[in-house]
Amino acid sequence: MIDKITEILNNVNNFVFKKENNAASFRLLYLSKKGVITELLNEFKTIPNNEKKLVGAQLNILKQKVEEIYQHQTELEEKTNQSKNKHKDSTLPVYQEGPGSYHPLRIVEDRLLDIFFSLGFDLAEGPEIEDDKHNFSFLNFTKDHPARDMQDTFFIAEHVLRTHTSSVQIREMEKGKLPLRLVMPGRVYRNEAVSARSNCFFHQIEGLYIDKGVSFADLKQTLYYFVQQFFGEGTKVRFRSSYFPFTEPSAEMDIWAGLETEENRRLTKGTGWLEVLGCGMVHPNVLDACNINSLEYKGFAFGMGIDRITMLKYGINDIRDLFLNDKRLLFQFSGV
Ligand code: DAH
Repeated sequence: MIDKITEILNNVNNFVFKKENNAASFRLLYLSKKGVITELLNEFKTIPNNEKKLVGAQLNILKQKVEEIYQHQTELEEKTNQSKNKHKDSTLPVYQEGPGSYHPLRIVEDRLLDIFFSLGFDLAEGPEIEDDKHNFSFLNFTKDHPARDMQDTFFIAEHVLRTHTSSVQIREMEKGKLPLRLVMPGRVYRNEAVSARSNCFFHQIEGLYIDKGVSFADLKQTLYYFVQQFFGEGTKVRFRSSYFPFTEPSAEMDIWAGLETEENRRLTKGTGWLEVLGCGMVHPNVLDACNINSLEYKGFAFGMGIDRITMLKYGINDIRDLFLNDKRLLFQFSGV
């Protein structure tokens, strides 16, 4: 029986796999109920006990080998099948995806910008990689000013990823052309822990109006008009005094969302008011830094987060959903 086993082991080792001699036929031949191994096991029962130890050991070696080869070949065939399926028929027409759709952030940004365009504001943009001067110091954040901590900053060697679009105000004021009436959209970055409520990048629209005789009343009226247009006629607004280094006085503007629904109570932390933007009269130090005579010219500025407004408008609860590009979300905006 030893000789027989040795011969079979030899055959097994020299088994050539081909299209018709595949893993399945190998299994049939060796490992099935009527296969060679079963046959040998039956024969093993009949041999004298003193031979069993030696023959048994040989038989085990054979069985292990057969199983190993079968396993290996099966995996190989699975892999080739997969890659074959991948390249199945390259002449087939591509899967029809249908037309794309605007991203909800784009829809909201366009709408917001349109409202300010209708008031005579123009568009301006600036770089996302900024220097300290434009992101901080010309905005009246003096060196070591504690307000720099309000915005956790990503540094790249001597530069920063802009923490707000207010940097574009400086770039435009430096150009020396007055009056200025601009909206400045763009992506901003903060070194914050990512969560459902905050991401390490998001989007803002900055507004700036500089001319002779611009007043806080102009600021309020502009923002009041914007709120009625965007959130609907009759939306209640309130201004709370606040602090930003680059505006004086500074304010934050809230809109009344109400306390009727559980959702509203959650979003407004039980107050009914939703914070929408920061604003104020441009600080004379900022004008002076940009070579604008602060005795002659006045200005107002405001900045709002597009992502938060988008989440509010469409009931999106997790800011990260805006950046997954999951088509199940995006396609809900086709045709909007
Ligand atoms: N840059 C501020 C921020 O990101 C927002 C802001 C507040 C912008 C007041 C302004 C402003 O233009 O006047 O937190």
